[in-house]
Amino acid sequence: MADRKKITLPQLFKKVANHEPITMLTCYDYPTAYFQEEAEIDMILVGDSLAMTMLGYDSTLPATMDDMIRHTQAVRRGAPTAWLVGDMPYMSYQPSVETAIRNAGRFMAEAGCDCIKLEGGAEMVDRVKGIIAAGIPVMGHLGLTPQSASALGGFRVQGRSAVQAKKIVDDAKALEEAGVFAILLEMVPDRVCQLITERAKNCFIISLGSGPHAHGQLLIYHDMFGLYPKFKPRMAKVFGNAGEVILNGLKTYVQEVTDRTFPQPENYFTIKDEEYAELLKLLE
Ligand code: KIV
Repeated sequence: MADRKKITLPQLFKKVANHEPITMLTCYDYPTAYFQEEAEIDMILVGDSLAMTMLGYDSTLPATMDDMIRHTQAVRRGAPTAWLVGDMPYMSYQPSVETAIRNAGRFMAEAGCDCIKLEGGAEMVDRVKGIIAAGIPVMGHLGLTPQSASALGGFRVQGRSAVQAKKIVDDAKALEEAGVFAILLEMVPDRVCQLITERAKNCFIISLGSGPHAHGQLLIYHDMFGLYPKFKPRMAKVFGNAGEVILNGLKTYVQEVTDRTFPQPENYFTIKDEEYAELLKLLE
């Protein structure tokens, strides 16, 4: 495993101060976490998108706290030094400040997270303040907030009109004033993201499909490796088509089992002749 010290919040802010972009990816399992750790990704988000990418639902809403904790624990085992973000799933923080604090606490105590992320702007300020008062760093999430996709008219760009964009700018300010250390802007126009980034004084901005001006970039791991069969968001870049590699491998496996070219001697184990003769005798 890579010889890296644990990433801390001051280190992330140092990168921002030095104008070094922060790298962030989603991750939901141990082996992927291992590779992300090896690649020295700064921040890992165990997103509630796992409901879609790992469990096959059509939205993020079915993800439960127990799903999130289980996957986040696996990610932490694979990535001990990355700054680990636990994504608060639907209805784990909306009902009340107390619910929010308790569930945020589970991410820290049971899954070894460094912080949590929740969706929403000014309307979430009391949850944000409550969680921070409990000693847990909070990352905000504005723009396309998938838990509200129905209210937002689907998975679409947010903030294209001046009025909509102003609301996102105001929400970012409200979250910053409430004490978040970072805000994720998902599918927000690049200049709106740039404006929010330039105005951020005490938090940094991460872009998902919101352009190059943020302090860092996030991608959904499954999108960047062709691992989500239902669709590929326009903003996602495919860095390698692992889905194609896996599908070709699976087809070859089916072919080789069918035509008996698999297994070969190196793929199985043998017993010595004398032991086998003895076995036959024992069975008489
Ligand atoms: O759940 C998730 O992966 C997220 C991203 C869409 C940012 O929240």
